[in-house]
Amino acid sequence: MNNLFWTGKLSSPMRILINSNNILAWLTGNLRNKKAMKDRIRLGYNATFSRHVTNYDELAGEFQERAADYQFYGIDLQGKEVLDIGGGTGVASLIALEMGAAKVVCGDISEYMLERGREKVRTLATGSDRIEFCQLDAESLPFNNNSFDFVMTGMAFGLFPDQKKAVKEMYRVLRPGGSVSLGAHGPEHYWEAIDTNLRAINKKYVLGYRLDFWPRTEKQIHLLMKDAGFKDIRTNRFIWRNLFKTPTDACDFFAAVTANWWFAKVPENKREQEYKKTQKFYERRNIIQVTDDIIVANGMKY
Ligand SMILES: C[S@@+](CC[C@H](N)C(=O)[O-])C[C@H]1O[C@@H](n2cnc3c(N)ncnc32)[C@H](O)[C@@H]1O
Repeated sequence: MNNLFWTGKLSSPMRILINSNNILAWLTGNLRNKKAMKDRIRLGYNATFSRHVTNYDELAGEFQERAADYQFYGIDLQGKEVLDIGGGTGVASLIALEMGAAKVVCGDISEYMLERGREKVRTLATGSDRIEFCQLDAESLPFNNNSFDFVMTGMAFGLFPDQKKAVKEMYRVLRPGGSVSLGAHGPEHYWEAIDTNLRAINKKYVLGYRLDFWPRTEKQIHLLMKDAGFKDIRTNRFIWRNLFKTPTDACDFFAAVTANWWFAKVPENKREQEYKKTQKFYERRNIIQVTDDIIVANGMKY
């Protein structure tokens, strides 16, 4: 599943660049170093590479809520115990709480993101006793078998280096009779922003390491879920265009939502300069539209 070649929608020079770079990453062993990939992602969402993550909810919250709404469509969470994997600042978890879940666990690899979620929960008038935040790795969940009635992951799946393992873990912690909602990134997801960022960044900072984001097709997600043991699998693909007031708004949204883990290899004293270069690129190309492409897969465990 963790294929070498990028098949998402990008202009062909960018696809050629990513694919040649992944061959280089494979030859040097970086492609197989899943721990390093996870560390980059975790550090990114701990706000190590980008000041934008500190404004995650302001810059990206409403867009992530929209994606969460697609995942909750037609789902009844009344009285259910819910696990939200890669839940970040709790955007989807808080919706689950409003939908009447008896208990919600928001789990994420980044302690920084979880702390932002805890801050929000402290201001709630009711329900704060029904939600908790837990640091975890999607590929090795710290829960017993059959612990939750509803397990979900949203806007995070493309960042898990071993997606097969992550889906198996979702199945393991789900109770028989429980349901799953897996929101994966489709082939067109954020392609305008990925394309622009890759053009702008100094290539020496990405040379030889894998791009830590993988879009998937509905068929691939269906197969992953089937292999893990899920039944009654249904997949739907939702595509929409996010329009921003200015190219800088689009650039800042993308910096926040990806925590700029692109900048993992950029020396600290060069990060602001690299960001400014990227921002100018957005302005020059007048990028005010960023596509969301999500694959929502639902299934059951019997
Ligand atoms: C784009 S954010 C989405 C957060 C949230 N689901 C939302 O919709 O706002 C991606 C999240 O996935 C988390 N993440 C990435 N890899 C992870 C892993 N292996 N295990 C758990 N969380 C992970 C990141 O820390 C980050 O908070």
